[in-house]
Amino acid sequence: MSRAPFDLVIRNACVATASDTFKADIGVLDGRISQLGVGLDRGEKEIDAAGRIVTPGGVDAHCHLDQPMAPPVRMADNFDTGTRAAACGGTTTVIPFAAQEKGQSLRAAVADYHQRADGRAHVDYAFHLIVSDPTPEVLNVELPALIAEGYTSFKIYMTYDDLKLDDGQILDVLDVARQHGAMAMVHAENADCIEWLTKRLEAAGRTAPRFHAHARPMLVEREATHRAIALSELVDVPILIVHVSGREAVEQIRWARAQGLKVFAETCPQYLFLTAEDLGMDDSYRGARCVCSPPPRDKANQEVIWNGLNDGLFTLFSSDHAPFNYEGTEGRKPGGEEVSFRHIPNGLAGIETRMALLYSEGVLGGRITLQKFVELTATNPAKAYGLHPRKGTIAIGADADLVIWDEREFVLRNTQLHHAVDHTPYEGMTLKAWPGLTLSRGEVVWDGRDFHGRAGRGQFLACGAPSLMPSRHVGRPA
Ligand code: URP
Ligand code: ZN
Ligand code: ZN
Repeated sequence: MSRAPFDLVIRNACVATASDTFKADIGVLDGRISQLGVGLDRGEKEIDAAGRIVTPGGVDAHCHLDQPMAPPVRMADNFDTGTRAAACGGTTTVIPFAAQEKGQSLRAAVADYHQRADGRAHVDYAFHLIVSDPTPEVLNVELPALIAEGYTSFKIYMTYDDLKLDDGQILDVLDVARQHGAMAMVHAENADCIEWLTKRLEAAGRTAPRFHAHARPMLVEREATHRAIALSELVDVPILIVHVSGREAVEQIRWARAQGLKVFAETCPQYLFLTAEDLGMDDSYRGARCVCSPPPRDKANQEVIWNGLNDGLFTLFSSDHAPFNYEGTEGRKPGGEEVSFRHIPNGLAGIETRMALLYSEGVLGGRITLQKFVELTATNPAKAYGLHPRKGTIAIGADADLVIWDEREFVLRNTQLHHAVDHTPYEGMTLKAWPGLTLSRGEVVWDGRDFHGRAGRGQFLACGAPSLMPSRHVGRPA
């Protein structure tokens, strides 16, 4: 028999995009979607998706993989295990961070990060930059050149001693974003307030993990969010506030949108499914497993975040996967010690669970539409970082990055996951769905039971200009 016109046909799919749901067959040729229609011709391979929802593969636009850390701390996931976990959780594109150390050139940081990724990734990846040392060379030479080469987004920290920039430095970096059309992501927490509170807590002997949340109350995030908005207004450049945790930061962003400012916002699963109580109700060290910044808040703030997802306040839903083991010497217990909360590495594992958590509790829980799910997890992240329409949608010409969903109830256990982290913050949660099949450029990388990736098959993606404009968001009380 002659060769079929398609490499793969997915039949009878219930295709969900950020705008529509429709029944179609999906024809895949050379890794791309080449036709959508009813009754498509033969594929070399055929998959029957009858009655099942098919969404674009997830784009996790905020995750940390194999990011260099000060010894003895080390991230548990590298590009191999991190992208394996991503694929098994329905994510087909990841954007981790090439982080500049103070005193290091940005070029060197990018070159080092490519070495860490080369030959290891199972799904496609791009890089954000982290700018921690904006020297004249970085601002005038390196950053403009890197933006032109496809590194079109960078993160600015307002906290963490080894990463933070002062306001003058932030203005300088935002000005580069404006001149060269890059997207600036901001970690908004007031470093001096955190240090002041931390010292007082330590002086009072309050060093258990739960005091991490006491050192970072919402006003710390609110003040920095407001300041970041003002700095971006001064420079007249869009910014994206990452990992927004609750009401006070949300109110600042609503205010900015109501003024017509181009302020985008991202939130993460930990702000929907965890509270400060997960850092511990007593001084037990187990709460170290949920230390992240900003910290999770409370049930009322979870509702604020759900509302923001629904009404367009949030543009992106990312994992902020920052993988550290609980046991051993390289993670939550640096050198094997139970340390003061100040020294516990920040961040939670979530690259594999992000999509299923939002699908289960958001879509099947009746809190958001399927279209909103696709927008937040795939289409908007691809647009925000210049990867759309190749990534983040189901359309002719797009990469055949697809998820076919299995809707079934099960109890989540870390033993089911494919990351290299010894715990999940969501252990024991009942989920209602999980990806039954993940395709990356037309190849099955996860079939609902087994992983079929291949280290090195993931390709580096040079990003284009961000193609996202905020809707003018008229504020309503959070
Ligand atoms: O606690 C967090 N969020 N850790 C990861 C690094 C960052 O700031 O995103
Ligand atoms: Zn951050
Ligand atoms: Zn992060």
